[in-house]
Amino acid sequence: MSLTRPTPSNGHYKAVGAFALFAATTLLTSLAAAQPGGPPPPPPPKFGEPLPGLTSQQLAAFKAGKDDFVERETPGGGLGPIFNRDSCVACHSGPAVGGASPINVTRFGKVTGGVFDPLTSLGGSLLQERAISQNGLEKVPAQANVVAKRQTTPLFGLGLIEAIPDAVILKGVRATPVDGVLGKASMVQDVASGKSLVGRFGWKAQQASLLAFAGDAYLNEMGITNRLFPTENAPNGNVALLNQLDKVKDPEDAVDPATGKAGIDVLADYMRFLAPPPTRPVTASTAFGAKFFLDVGCTSCHTPSMTTGPSPVSALNNKSIFLYSDLLLHDMGSLGDGIVQGAAGAREMKTPPLWGAAASEPYLHDGRARTLDEAIRAHDGEGRSARDKYLKLTPDQQKLLVEFLKSI
Ligand code: HEC
Ligand code: HEC
Repeated sequence: MSLTRPTPSNGHYKAVGAFALFAATTLLTSLAAAQPGGPPPPPPPKFGEPLPGLTSQQLAAFKAGKDDFVERETPGGGLGPIFNRDSCVACHSGPAVGGASPINVTRFGKVTGGVFDPLTSLGGSLLQERAISQNGLEKVPAQANVVAKRQTTPLFGLGLIEAIPDAVILKGVRATPVDGVLGKASMVQDVASGKSLVGRFGWKAQQASLLAFAGDAYLNEMGITNRLFPTENAPNGNVALLNQLDKVKDPEDAVDPATGKAGIDVLADYMRFLAPPPTRPVTASTAFGAKFFLDVGCTSCHTPSMTTGPSPVSALNNKSIFLYSDLLLHDMGSLGDGIVQGAAGAREMKTPPLWGAAASEPYLHDGRARTLDEAIRAHDGEGRSARDKYLKLTPDQQKLLVEFLKSI
């Protein structure tokens, strides 16, 4: 199957090829399951289970990482002084450990004459809504004139997304818009490797590696300083107050002398080995829905599949994955969140992978959409043409398209 982004001349056939492959794979898997004789194939992983085909060592790393992911931190262990929750699983919980939840976080900033200021000196752009002491509690400062909510995203299959080579994502960038769709790669300086890489994690594609995101989340969601993010956040920028409240020496993320790994390494292992969400069987309805998904142009951003590059981990090596995203930033017009972050402008958002969408409601960056249908209707900017074509489908056709989304 081709990896190139659909173009008007050949995109249709390539995308159809992708769906055909998807349907055929599903069919073959069920046929194989029905084969008499030979050993029955292992059932595909459920939500929260590890990737199939891990070595026993990798499986042990997955389990150790999961322990850290669900562990509740305490102030004595480095939690805070300001934080959002005391464990990763507090937010990433549904429908299994590692998933999403309706919990969101708040970002703020100030726009003056079209220029965005993240108000770093006042504790921006991320608000920490809890503190180990009442007097450390942060507020959105009065100076802020942009406030945006960010919904928790699921982490299933992220190791496979990390294993997609930059070059594969870069192929999707268009020189001139097609149907109003352009796409921009989020080039970021990866704090883990020091390299300039294509960001692909987070609503703004603000991080390029799972290790970097683990470090970012450890500090910014839980207040745990680590080797990649060694400096505590001061409550609304008040350093004197921080010094008064912060009793634990930095970096707080301890290295296990037995393995040489810190918490962020172990958390990255866990996320890397987490299987993608399970799919539902292909039916006549989902097959028709796939056709409408293709016809109205959803695939110009929600690219059905990509292939991972070479990886020393065989479970991640050269795998075709059905993520339904180009991992690029798009100008989404009124759907943008107004926050400038990393390479992403105020209106630019990353196309979120749609796999597992049935289990990650509510939808969109701020959770404003309760249903998939509402999420589609809110598309704007580069997504307007596809949205308008969706609106022109009959209600039955729209239902089939949504039925398809629930099956991937
Ligand atoms: C307070 C809730 C909360 C906690 C606690 C939390 N997260 Fe998240 N997580 C989020 C939100 C919200 C996002 C989306 C953030 C964004 O893009 O701005 C996210 C996104 C992520 C992503 C990117 C996912 C993607 O699809 O691209 C990773 C990776 C991640 N979190 C890992 C972690 C880890 C590891 C921990 C624990 C150290 C953690 N998170 C703790 C809320 C939370
Ligand atoms: C221009 C690129 C583009 C096109 C075309 C596009 N989308 Fe999206 N889609 C996005 C982006 C970007 C977001 C996230 C926007 C946000 O939350 O601010 C998104 C979000 C979504 C979500 C919510 C996912 C979640 O986890 O919250 C769904 C569902 C969705 N799109 C389905 C569709 C369907 C169906 C079509 C075709 C009718 C479509 N999209 C066309 C870029 C696109």
